[in-house]
Amino acid sequence: MTAKQILKSMTLEDKARQLTQFNSLLYNPNNMMTITGPKSDLGITDEDIEGSGSGIYYYGDDEIHRVQNGKLTHKIPLLFMVDIIHGSETIYPIPLAMGATFDPTLMKECAAMAAREAKAIGIDVTFAPMVDFVRDARWGRVMESTGEDVYLNCLFAKAQVEGFQSEGLVSCVKHFAAYGAPEGGVDYNAVDVSEWTLREKYLPAYKAAIDAGAKMVMTSFNSLNGVPSVANKRLVKGILRDEWGFDGIVISDYNAFRELISHGVAKDEKECAYKAMQATIDIEMLSACYIHSLKDLIREGKITETQVDEAVLRVLKLKEELGLLDKTYTPTTKTKEEIEAYKKSRILTEEHRALARKAAEKSAVLLKNDGLLPLDKESVKSVAVIGPFGDTGEILGAWRAFGDNDKAVKVTDGLKNLLPNAVVRYAKGVDADIPYVTATELDKPLRVNEAELDEAVRLASSSDVVVLTLGETQNDVGEGNSKQNLELSEPQKILLEKVAAANPNTVAVIFSGRPLVLTEAERIARASLLVWHPGTEGGNAIANLLFGEATPQGKLTMSFPKSTGQCPLHYDTFQTGRPQQDDNVRIGCTASYIDGSRLPLYPFGYGLSYTTFAYDKLRLSESVLHRGKSIVASIDIKNTGNREGTETVQLYVRDLYASVVRPVRELKGFKKVTLSAGEEKTIEFEIDEEMLKFYNADLERVAEDGDFEIYVGGDSGCKTCVRFRLES
Ligand code: GLC
Repeated sequence: MTAKQILKSMTLEDKARQLTQFNSLLYNPNNMMTITGPKSDLGITDEDIEGSGSGIYYYGDDEIHRVQNGKLTHKIPLLFMVDIIHGSETIYPIPLAMGATFDPTLMKECAAMAAREAKAIGIDVTFAPMVDFVRDARWGRVMESTGEDVYLNCLFAKAQVEGFQSEGLVSCVKHFAAYGAPEGGVDYNAVDVSEWTLREKYLPAYKAAIDAGAKMVMTSFNSLNGVPSVANKRLVKGILRDEWGFDGIVISDYNAFRELISHGVAKDEKECAYKAMQATIDIEMLSACYIHSLKDLIREGKITETQVDEAVLRVLKLKEELGLLDKTYTPTTKTKEEIEAYKKSRILTEEHRALARKAAEKSAVLLKNDGLLPLDKESVKSVAVIGPFGDTGEILGAWRAFGDNDKAVKVTDGLKNLLPNAVVRYAKGVDADIPYVTATELDKPLRVNEAELDEAVRLASSSDVVVLTLGETQNDVGEGNSKQNLELSEPQKILLEKVAAANPNTVAVIFSGRPLVLTEAERIARASLLVWHPGTEGGNAIANLLFGEATPQGKLTMSFPKSTGQCPLHYDTFQTGRPQQDDNVRIGCTASYIDGSRLPLYPFGYGLSYTTFAYDKLRLSESVLHRGKSIVASIDIKNTGNREGTETVQLYVRDLYASVVRPVRELKGFKKVTLSAGEEKTIEFEIDEEMLKFYNADLERVAEDGDFEIYVGGDSGCKTCVRFRLES
């Protein structure tokens, strides 16, 4: 039957259930939760569950297929949805790390790999990519984003959607909209941005995902300019559907319907359902406002059955497109053995591990190196691995889906794999705990275990080199993990001081899901390598990077602050009427802090290599750009070191004078180039009118005549600059 035929056969109860998504536990015949469990909280019945349109959090195809075929007589097959954010079982680095590769092609390959693994176990939809524009590292979910630049985010949004959907996994882009700008960096907090900033910075990446073919959109928890997204008709119906023409499924976030009551914009579930339907939200995740209220709302004339039918048809059409409505559809006829063999051929294969390893190598960012790195495989006979991340598989990242920490390659494993003849020993030194403020106790003072610390120092002093692992755990970042202090914990600072004093040949290897304040590592360690949460192959990638089997090439896509107080910190700032004159001198009445620097410790676009690059002769084909035409910016880049390296050459543009203030610079292009020692190349960028456009005060997208500067270099602080004019 077609979607329209099925719709005709549905009762209003069927329709409300089809628009509702429950947790897998409620479906699973083996552990149907008793009515006293969440079902009573949700106020639903077995019929509601049997008629629901989709399930969430399924882990394992046999469970899925049993449900489709099993006890629950689903008249219409379910859609199964899970957060496959950066891998399904083969976990690649977190998206903030993937952004640092400046390699959308690699991103697409990894997303396709994740999709193959998810489809192998019956998943239909991933709640990804998350394309929220971010500037505040205190917000734990920056780890899911690709950072603070809208141009880059759009490229990665497109790459992920294309990657996922190239293997048949439906992409649900999220969180619409502007979830990445919560007040104070506190998750779920209110977002208040002007329409001008919303359109300039926060909306483009969602649009890029939709233009790339994303079939679903998830609304965000936050209120945006006073209205929570689930109830935001102007945002969802007005912009997403009417202005952008999106006619796919819109799904809420987890229980976000009912949370309208907590937001204080709905008095009961019926009003939640009313506002969501008016906003054209199709699927209600993990609550039952539609089930409880649609019938009454229609009887009261507040909504029409046509509105409900439009929503149901969008859900059924996706099922039709995926073949779930075909009369020949059967979830599986495979035997359990056949399913296992099929999974084995598609999941955690050596090919997938190799891709995850490559991504981990390319996303790592070399922050400091006085020449200690790369280490020499032949001369290093003993390696001390120290710190709370050195001997654990808990390096996958916050959104690790089906990833198994026990299947991850630990740092110690990776080093032993690479250095079969060296002695690799481990000492934790300190825990990775951070002080928690709880409702019942003040900050719990973190105590250092002196015996463990002494053991680590002894190991450091008796080894050739020290790999000192520091940072934040994968469970202290991501959803609900906002921080007010981005510094390393006090115990980790103590460990760093003591270990580096015991053995100067100490390299800091930083694990994190966000920008941290790394001033101590910068001051104390001879070298510092940021590996993020690198995923299943982390240990092998880190060993390869430390010993030069791979050369670091990652570039930061978020500014790393010198102090938490600088947050939100981003490179594309406005000059203001009183620009700071000198970051090292206190000059009153300027856009600066009186008690600290305004500049990042490491700027957007920053990342070192084991070689060095020199830029020269930045030049333009013409000094005037006429509308409709283009000019070419060229620059010579030379590898001035003694080994091959890959540089991401970045192009920034500054509009010197316009009808609204314009950022001091904005990324408008980049090219990765690999050069052997001594090799020199000319890199060219085409400059056209499109890259000069912005929203003016009337929210028109324009490029205005005037003077512009082009900056080209290895990070957003590059000084090499030329000017040109745009003329009509
Ligand atoms: C979570 C997240 C969202 C995720 C959803 C389903 O609360 O906000 O990103 O897709 O629930 O897991």
